[in-house]
Amino acid sequence: MTIRSVILGTGSCLPERTMTNKDLEAIVDTSDEWIVQRTGIRERRIAADGQTTADMAIESARHALQAAGLHGADIDGVIVATSTPDTTFPSVAVKVQAALNICQGPAFDVHAVCAGFIYALTVADSLLRTGVARRLLVVGAEKMSSILNWEDRTTCVLFGDGAGALVLEAQEGRGEIADRGIISTHLHADGHLRDILYVNGGVSSTQTAGHIVMEGKEVFRHAVALMADVVTEAMSHNGIGPEEIDWLVPHQANIRIIEGTARKLDVRLDQVILTVDRHGNTSAASIPLALDEAVRDGRIQRGHLMLLEALGSGLTWGAALIRY
Ligand code: ACO
Repeated sequence: MTIRSVILGTGSCLPERTMTNKDLEAIVDTSDEWIVQRTGIRERRIAADGQTTADMAIESARHALQAAGLHGADIDGVIVATSTPDTTFPSVAVKVQAALNICQGPAFDVHAVCAGFIYALTVADSLLRTGVARRLLVVGAEKMSSILNWEDRTTCVLFGDGAGALVLEAQEGRGEIADRGIISTHLHADGHLRDILYVNGGVSSTQTAGHIVMEGKEVFRHAVALMADVVTEAMSHNGIGPEEIDWLVPHQANIRIIEGTARKLDVRLDQVILTVDRHGNTSAASIPLALDEAVRDGRIQRGHLMLLEALGSGLTWGAALIRY
């Protein structure tokens, strides 16, 4: 008998305000054509003044609980993946815990930038499989707009705000790939590459939040290669080929990175869940947002095999193979 971490419900939250590429043309020297061609992004959501990462995390978690048919009291802990917390401390996770009346177990944030949700899933899966908890809320939530330099056209057109969540429950499996739940996760980091994508501020350095700085071409080059590597690692670890994958749910940074990874893997584009055109890059929130959309519109169904993959600043990257 093996314990599997099974997804009971998903949820999401997108801010009301949509910022189109046309809107951005009024802010920086850019064009809808350039942004669509280079990134596939057409619009993104931007949080209202005063709307925080925790506000979005709480709403997405509430929807995930509703989808699972559970209440806060049924949950044993909260893990939030974020790089844009409301405050340096306490964590966003404790705000989610309090808002949803979750009265037991741990609550903490995981900081691995765009790969944060895969890291958080891995930590949650470990807690569930070792019996520390029976049900956990895992959230990815970001207010990227608060760390953008709105005068830098090379970065401000790429990102958006939002949150996605899921409820995981420890259930008995047979230890086979046919089991529902998280089958395996694969994490990596290479701190030598931290200078190609970073935020130029922080508590112990500048005492400011800072802004995103990026060498786009370098990030692009590493992203395609490393994400294809980690997805291949996940498949060979489980002895499966791309034909057995129902859905690729990638981090939504750039359509060209996603297409490049899908091509390398021989996965058809209609097997890829895409939200980058409407959400932009929402960092740790992008995978759970995409997952929730595809679950709710009926594409992802019970029993489907999904491969999640992401890469972010650090560099950090990872993949998760999950049967929904
Ligand atoms: N509008 C118009 N022109 C622009 C813009 C813009 N928004 N941004 C840059 N340009 C210009 C540049 O100034 C440059 O002009 P020049 O030739 O006169 O110097 C030209 O466009 C080409 O710029 P490049 O940077 O070479 O463009 P590139 O084809 O590399 O595309 C991009 C840039 C889209 C950022 C690409 O490199 C990329 O997607 N990189 C990966 C970024 C990413 O995904 N980051 C996040 C992943 S990790 C995470 O999610 C945190």
